[in-house]
This record gives sequence, C-alpha cells and structure tokens, in this order.
Amino acid sequence: MSFSSPSSKLSSLLLFALLLGYLIGSSKGGNFSQDFDIIWGDQRAQMLNGGQLLTLSLDKVSGSGFQSKNEYLFGRIDMQIKLVSGNSAGTVTAYYLSSQGPTHDEIDFEFLGNLTGEPYVLHTNAFHAYSIVWNKQRIIFLVDDIPIRVFQNLESVGVPFPNKQAMRIYSSLWNADDWATKGGLVKTDWTQAPFTASYINFKANACIWSSASPCTFSSPNSSNDSAWQVQTLDALGRDRLRRVQQKYMIYNYCTDLKRFSQGLPTECK
Ligand SMILES: *[C@@H]1O[C@H](CO)[C@@H](O)[C@H](O)[C@H]1NC(C)=O
Ligand SMILES: *[C@@H]1O[C@H](CO)[C@@H](O)[C@H](O)[C@H]1NC(C)=O
Ligand SMILES: *[C@@H]1O[C@H](CO)[C@@H](O)[C@H](O)[C@H]1NC(C)=O
Ligand SMILES: *[C@@H]1O[C@H](CO)[C@@H](O)[C@H](O)[C@H]1NC(C)=O
Repeated sequence: MSFSSPSSKLSSLLLFALLLGYLIGSSKGGNFSQDFDIIWGDQRAQMLNGGQLLTLSLDKVSGSGFQSKNEYLFGRIDMQIKLVSGNSAGTVTAYYLSSQGPTHDEIDFEFLGNLTGEPYVLHTNAFHAYSIVWNKQRIIFLVDDIPIRVFQNLESVGVPFPNKQAMRIYSSLWNADDWATKGGLVKTDWTQAPFTASYINFKANACIWSSASPCTFSSPNSSNDSAWQVQTLDALGRDRLRRVQQKYMIYNYCTDLKRFSQGLPTECK
C-alpha cells in the first residue's frame, strides 16, 4: 500500500503478509448502484444483489474496474474486499483514492498476486475490511480495524500531504505478470481464469466535495460521528501497529537503501 504526492506514484510502498482471522459479522453497507460507476471491463464488473455486492473479474482479454460517483475530501472510507483466491500470481488488485490531473494525490492499497499457498499479502479466502481514515493530521490504513500504517502530515518539514484535492474511490483488477510476482518471473496461469475479487459493505463517513459546498456529509448521521476527524493512534494502537509491522511487513520502502541510494524520502527520517 502506498501514498504518493504529487504525481510521484508509488513513492512509498510497504508490503504485508498478514494472516488475520476471518471477519466476523458485517455492518450494513451502502448500495453500490448508487455510489459507484463501472468504468472498465464491460460485463466483467457486476453489481449484484440489488447493489449489495460488486465483483470484478479478469480474463485473458481484459481486467475491470469501478470508481465512486462522489469525490471526497477527508473522511473514513470502509470497504470489505475478498481478494483473488487460490493461484493469483501475476494479478494485481488495486483499491485506492485518487484525485485527478497531472499533480494528483493517491492513497493506495495494492495487492499483488502470489502462488497458491504462499502466504503473501493477505488471507484471501474471506472478506476483510480495508479502511482509510484521512483527516488533516494523518492518514491511517486499517485492516480489520487493525492499524497497519500511519502517514503523518509532515508538511511543516516539506513532505507533501494530500489536503487540497478531493479524491474518488477506485478499484481495479488487472494482469501485471510482467512485474507483479517475483519481479515478473511467475506468469498468470490463464487456465485459472476468470480471476475474481468481490466487494461488500462500502461505507463512507466522509465529506463529499462539490464546488458549491466544500463539504456535505455523506450520510445524514455522520456529522454526529466525527471520530475520524481527529482519529489518531493511542498507546494501544501504536503498540498494535508496531507488532503488525514487526511480524508481517515484508517490504518497507523506508529501509530500501538500494532503491533510494541517493537518500531516503524525508518522511522516513
Ligand atoms: C440500490 O439502488 C438501485 C438503483 O437505485 C435500486 O434499484 C436497488 O433496489 C437498490 N438496492 C437496495 C437493496 O436498496
Ligand atoms: C509470495 O510468497 C512468497 C512466500 O511466502 C514470498 O516470499 C514472496 O515475497 C511473495 N510475494 C511475491 C510478490 O512473490
Ligand atoms: C442513523 O440514525 C438513525 C436514527 O437514530 C438510526 O436508526 C440509524 O441506524 C443510523 N444510521 C447509521 C448508519 O448510523
Ligand atoms: C445528531 O445528534 C443529535 C442528538 O443525538 C440529533 O438531535 C441530531 O439530529 C443529529 N444530527 C444529525 C445530522 O443526524
């Protein structure tokens, strides 16, 4: 997952091999038909069950993708995703927020496929909840409500932080077997196609941006739930974050001296 700004895509990247418990219970989610548009892949992307379920698929001809109708400027965005299961080598599922234009900002979860049984990014047999808390002070990435990364606003020392451009939510599933798995050595096994990722329980407790009014809350109740606006990590949260990173993080760009031989990005110091 990464955060990049402005226009320096993938300036930061961490990879996790998380094996978390199955998600139990589910909150009532929104209606995909009302909140999202399918933008790529024709019938490979589908909204089912009256808008309660969205699926993306990838075959040899094309992948697929969707985007939110609304643009958001700060908020808490929750989505439960079941990633491509089994042998997903060569595939990439991206779930991210992005603004538009040449100097766009991005806040990304990016899941690279792997060979069957190799515990690489995340447990793919079940839905997991991916949340992005984006407020003026920081961005917190959570998986099943466990913080896995925090990006602090360090504008005061010159690190760009996305706080001016509204972003849409995007997700797509595509073939990237030229680089995704073992640097491109492991190719997509098309006998396993189509590959499918599923989405349920989307919830945005966020400011919907429009030029007329910079912030309309996305659900009438959410102005009463303002926890995300000041959300930070308490001692317990910091402790969980440290343990998750120690145990499961398999790549941290902040320690990649080979890649950043000219010096690490400022936020790593
Ligand atoms: C979701 O929205 C669509 C389009 O507005 C509507 O047809 C459908 O009945 C809605 N689903 C539910 C579960 O309310
Ligand atoms: C795939 O799984 C292996 C074994 O767990 C791991 O070493 C590797 O980093 C994983 N990721 C990729 C992209 O191959
Ligand atoms: C919004 O408020 C109503 C009335 O208090 C409540 O019944 C409903 O569950 C709330 N919805 C959410 C998403 O919190
Ligand atoms: C916020 O909560 C108060 C008290 O519970 C309630 O009177 C008010 O209608 C709520 N506001 C919104 C926008 O739901």
